[in-house]
Amino acid sequence: MTAQIIDGKAFAAKVRAEVAQHVAQMKAAHGITPGLAVVLVGEDPASQVYVRSKGKQTVEVGMNSFEHKLDAATSEADLLALIAQLNADPAVHGILVQLPLPGHLNEDLVINAIAPEKDVDGFHISNVGLLATGQKAMVPCTPLGCLMMLRDHHGSLSGLNAVVIGRSNIVGKPMAQLLLRDSCTVTVAHSRTKDIADVVRGADIVVAAVGRAEMVPGDWIKPGATVIDVGINRIERDGKPVLVGDCDFDSCAAVAGAITPVPGGVGPMTIACLLANTLTACARANGLDEPQGLTA
Ligand code: GUN
Repeated sequence: MTAQIIDGKAFAAKVRAEVAQHVAQMKAAHGITPGLAVVLVGEDPASQVYVRSKGKQTVEVGMNSFEHKLDAATSEADLLALIAQLNADPAVHGILVQLPLPGHLNEDLVINAIAPEKDVDGFHISNVGLLATGQKAMVPCTPLGCLMMLRDHHGSLSGLNAVVIGRSNIVGKPMAQLLLRDSCTVTVAHSRTKDIADVVRGADIVVAAVGRAEMVPGDWIKPGATVIDVGINRIERDGKPVLVGDCDFDSCAAVAGAITPVPGGVGPMTIACLLANTLTACARANGLDEPQGLTA
């Protein structure tokens, strides 16, 4: 079998086009423009690239983008004061504090200072609890993107066996919650899991989110399974830098029914879902109908 390639780049473009359409309609019908504030502390080069890309795509879908770049030595008090100001600003519907933060800042404290209804990352403890109890939450962007691709491919996920490899707060745990909500039988595998190959071989859906280059070989994959590869790992191959996922693409693609490539799979969906979450937050803040198909 050769797997169908799930094109995340094309899917993300479709999500952005839908968001842009909703934004235009919101402006025309209600005079409201969704606004996303992104806070970057320090000069981490990878974070700067992400923040620039977020700002550009936010404007492209017709939303307002507010960028706050703070010095690496910014105090916790100053950062919390900015978050309080953004929480109170009616033009700001979504707030994202780019992680990682410099070491002197307490990430949990900072994230939990964001108003939960503006927490478009879905990292606030209230949103984590709302998701876990099946209530209306803001859902983390990367798992939301994975869910959208899985629903698109399978239709219903009900009754499927899903194995999530990795237990991070950003991807693994919320992914498991979302799959459970869609009535999958969910197993979370991690570095201490015994006989991980056998666990993964039972999966109709594999979501790999560990951050270890090519750790999942094709002989772990059940024939016909869907493989969602969240990993983005920089390695050297034949003396050249390349990006690879957490799955060994060629051997997995030979067995799977469908697979996301790296790059061009899950990656582009993350920012598209951030824009979708900002739209959802804006609709909720203004008592408008939530956009269908863009939320969990
Ligand atoms: N840094 C890397 N990924 C993310 C993300 O999804 N959200 C935030 N806030 N920071 C990140």
